[in-house]
Amino acid sequence: MKLTTKLLGLTALVGATQAQAVEMEVMHWWTSGGEAAAVAKFAEALNNNTEHTWVDGAIAGGGDVARPVMVSRIIGGDPPAAFQFNHGRQAEELIEAGLLLDLTDVAEAEGWEDIVNPPSLLDACTVDGRVYCAPVNIHSWQWLWLSNDAYEQAGVEVPTNWEEFVAAAPALREAGITPLAMGGQSWQQSGAFGVMAIALAGEEAWLAVNQDKDAEVARGEDYTRVFQAFADARDLADGLDVQDWNQATNAVIEGTAGGQIMGDWAQGEFAVAGMTAGEDYTCLPGLGNTAVLSTGGDAFYFPVTGDPEIEAAQKELAALLLSPEVQVAFNSAKGSLPIRGDVDLTTVNDCTTRGLELLAGDNVLPDGNLLLTQDTITQTNDLMTEFFNSDMSVEDVQEQYAQIIENAN
Ligand code: GAL
Repeated sequence: MKLTTKLLGLTALVGATQAQAVEMEVMHWWTSGGEAAAVAKFAEALNNNTEHTWVDGAIAGGGDVARPVMVSRIIGGDPPAAFQFNHGRQAEELIEAGLLLDLTDVAEAEGWEDIVNPPSLLDACTVDGRVYCAPVNIHSWQWLWLSNDAYEQAGVEVPTNWEEFVAAAPALREAGITPLAMGGQSWQQSGAFGVMAIALAGEEAWLAVNQDKDAEVARGEDYTRVFQAFADARDLADGLDVQDWNQATNAVIEGTAGGQIMGDWAQGEFAVAGMTAGEDYTCLPGLGNTAVLSTGGDAFYFPVTGDPEIEAAQKELAALLLSPEVQVAFNSAKGSLPIRGDVDLTTVNDCTTRGLELLAGDNVLPDGNLLLTQDTITQTNDLMTEFFNSDMSVEDVQEQYAQIIENAN
């Protein structure tokens, strides 16, 4: 893959003398089939277009497992050259501690302010006017993925919204199919709750709770309706016992589960399985109830090492990740949308097209990672997984959730 000469001119930014070959350890949590296929595009781009070498530091088990490992390496003085976080508040303590490289000179040289769309992605990398991460994609949680085959087996229409999904569940059970695929990690159950909150309580109520931290809205009837639906989801997930999100996606791919509430990184799995959107699977943005896209996603951060050669290589990699060619190659495999509006993906299917329409139509919400601290997110994850794995009442979980919001900053 030959990149534009403009990018290769980046050595001017970092100084030709410093552009020595560096072995760059890059830490991330992309270990599923689709994720691995996507991150390989980054490795290929670095190896083929610079003198540096990508040393893959994949950590299995998802972000909740990987992030503490990355943080301990950085705080322990043995940092990788780069690491993946979700952009937003996850990195704020590392930035405040002065442990992450200021990329503002790269952002200015590369014109990120004019390139990155929506601008909120770059805002999510910016603290006190300085840029600390390279945003690489837009991932939206707001999707329900449905197996067309499962509903055909059950002799019912593919649902078009949450209410129809619940109503079709008995027919799926009759056919020996688990209605809702849900993995065992808490972030998956908590993520599904967040999607249901937007879809069933509405954008205004969701923003009041997540942005304004309004605990009275969290205690209100709109959220009671969400928790009642979440209790339904708890029942509908009975029957599938898997841990990782992509194992749950695989149940939808195989038609042993009807649907999964999951971010659009699930598309990477459907792609690796050779499935076609609209033919083999159906995607409902906002569960089909509230068509919306949330602009979450991933970004790369670069620990301060004090070594000018490593710093030069880090800045080259940061610029490379946002280049048009790399954005197309990576996002086409990842199932995410590119962070720049001047590129066309090679694999645009019905679902990606729907996502792009929502983005263009401003039917967009910020991801929770931009509004909530990791501490608040962890407390919410713990509560939702306790609810999902017990007979805790709707009243009880709603009150405990309202208290978490009351204490959130
Ligand atoms: C998200 C990340 C995605 C996806 C997912 C599952 O936090 O933004 O890229 O990989 O985790 O691992």
